[in-house]
Amino acid sequence: MKSILLASDGSPHASKAAEHVVTLLKGGTEYKLMIVHVIDHEASKRDAWLCMNPGARQREREEKLKPVCNIFEKAELAYSVNLTKGDPAEEIMLCSQKENVDMIVIGSRGLNAIQELMLGSVCHKVVQKADRPVLVVR
Ligand SMILES: Nc1ncnc2c1ncn2[C@@H]1O[C@H](COP(=O)(O)OP(=O)(O)OP(=O)(O)O)[C@@H](O)[C@H]1O
Ligand SMILES: [Mg+2]
Repeated sequence: MKSILLASDGSPHASKAAEHVVTLLKGGTEYKLMIVHVIDHEASKRDAWLCMNPGARQREREEKLKPVCNIFEKAELAYSVNLTKGDPAEEIMLCSQKENVDMIVIGSRGLNAIQELMLGSVCHKVVQKADRPVLVVR
């Protein structure tokens, strides 16, 4: 059985990665599909309003997960969601180990679309440090 961990920050890049996962799994193979979304510890400290309003925080999480959940639901693929908090790259790798997935699927860029040339820092760190295959979708 294939097991895949899709990392999503809610960006269009993550949605593109999710669309690719659909093409990998649509052959009817048995699979276990997980999404991980990490609440960026540094970013959430900066966004002080988020800390003050739990309702807004919950809505923010749902917003970040919605695009990829919609893609998998439309493709009728079953999935589970892992929500964690901390350093995104470290948490993605930790989750991949805990769930012992065969492959991490990640977007080349994320929400910070300013730099066009390089990989995003989260992607870069996962590609460099993960102890299992990483598929970068661009
Ligand atoms: N908080 C997160 N939770 C889960 N996956 C994430 C998270 N942040 C990034 N990713 C994954 O990493 C991919 C690349 O995003 P990354 O954050 O590296 O680029 P960026 O946002 O453009 O640049 P940077 O964050 O370095 O300023 C995303 O498409 C997504 O798959
Ligand atoms: Mg980012």
